[in-house]
Amino acid sequence: MARRVDRRSDVLYHLMSANCWLGLSMEALSSAIVAFAAFASVGFAISGSLTAGAAGLVVTNAIMVTGLLAGGVQTATQLEVEMNAVERIRGVSEEATPEVQTLRLMGGSFEDDDSDDEGTSSPPEWPDAELEASADALTANEELEMDAWPADSSVRFRRYWMRYRMDLPAVLRGVNLDIPAGSRLAVVGRTGSGKSSLAAALIRNPGPGCTAGSLLVGGRDVKTVPLARLRRHIALLPQEPWVLRGSVRENLGGDACADSDAWALLRSLGLADAVRNLPVEIAGSGGGLDGKLSTAAWSRGQRQLLALERAVLRRPAILVLDEATASLDEASEKRVLAAAD
Ligand SMILES: Nc1ncnc2c1ncn2[C@@H]1O[C@H](COP(=O)(O)OP(=O)(O)O)[C@@H](O)[C@H]1O
Ligand SMILES: [Mg+2]
Repeated sequence: MARRVDRRSDVLYHLMSANCWLGLSMEALSSAIVAFAAFASVGFAISGSLTAGAAGLVVTNAIMVTGLLAGGVQTATQLEVEMNAVERIRGVSEEATPEVQTLRLMGGSFEDDDSDDEGTSSPPEWPDAELEASADALTANEELEMDAWPADSSVRFRRYWMRYRMDLPAVLRGVNLDIPAGSRLAVVGRTGSGKSSLAAALIRNPGPGCTAGSLLVGGRDVKTVPLARLRRHIALLPQEPWVLRGSVRENLGGDACADSDAWALLRSLGLADAVRNLPVEIAGSGGGLDGKLSTAAWSRGQRQLLALERAVLRRPAILVLDEATASLDEASEKRVLAAAD
């Protein structure tokens, strides 16, 4: 804060110095013009080609004109300074990534969802839990067909209701939402409005009998997608990051990814040094990716970054960040958003 105040004073100081200099030079110029007009008119008056009255008029006019000139220059510079604010606002509005759509969630449904009537107000017919649980197994044919899933990363909620347990009230109430493939959506809402629940719904967290309406990912109802497969393609970075006891490599998903990829991402997330400095557990192993992680030694922000790296390295079709930047500083947040791209 003190640094920012300092910078502002610094800028203000320069602005005022420049203003003083401008004022001084304008005064000097005006004085020169008036002096010239005075000497010239007095000279002409003495030589007889100008009456004394006319000479006086010339001097008065010279004073008036230079006054106007100084005023004009002052106004122009003032305008230029003020226009900086306009320029700044334009810069900021263009900086904000316009392709991120934002939706506001309130009490389990979207604020401006006026698409219908009974969708959000009346509770739905909840499906039968036992039926749903038994329908989970896929036939061999369906399993094969699933190889193509997800065809794209579009998400569509239709009159979607969700509760955590059958004896609990619904936390999502008739959500209608279309997220086209390849787009980014930010969901905002107060604590308890159901943001995390919306994310949990995507990876089929609620058990059988706890959801009603439909949720399609890549055009297919998620209820018909085997859980393992669903969660392989949809990466959810939870609000509470978790880190496994073990090496960095194990935390990043084992040998599935190349070391160079892992390091590149660690560097871009600003974690490379922290990983390099990890204590070495096994004699002979070189720290780094094989260094042992202890949950206590890493800050929440660092754990969040590592969890993000784990999610991104899997190259999921859909990446869900649940307040993933909540414990990060501004610079790390920028890095996270860049990595998410
Ligand atoms: N595991 C759970 N079991 C039962 N109720 C839950 C659970 N998680 C969240 N809820 C309830 O669901 C509602 C929405 O919570 P949540 O989705 O976490 O909101 P947000 O992420 O927007 O803060 C809250 O009323 C909360 O009490
Ligand atoms: Mg939450």
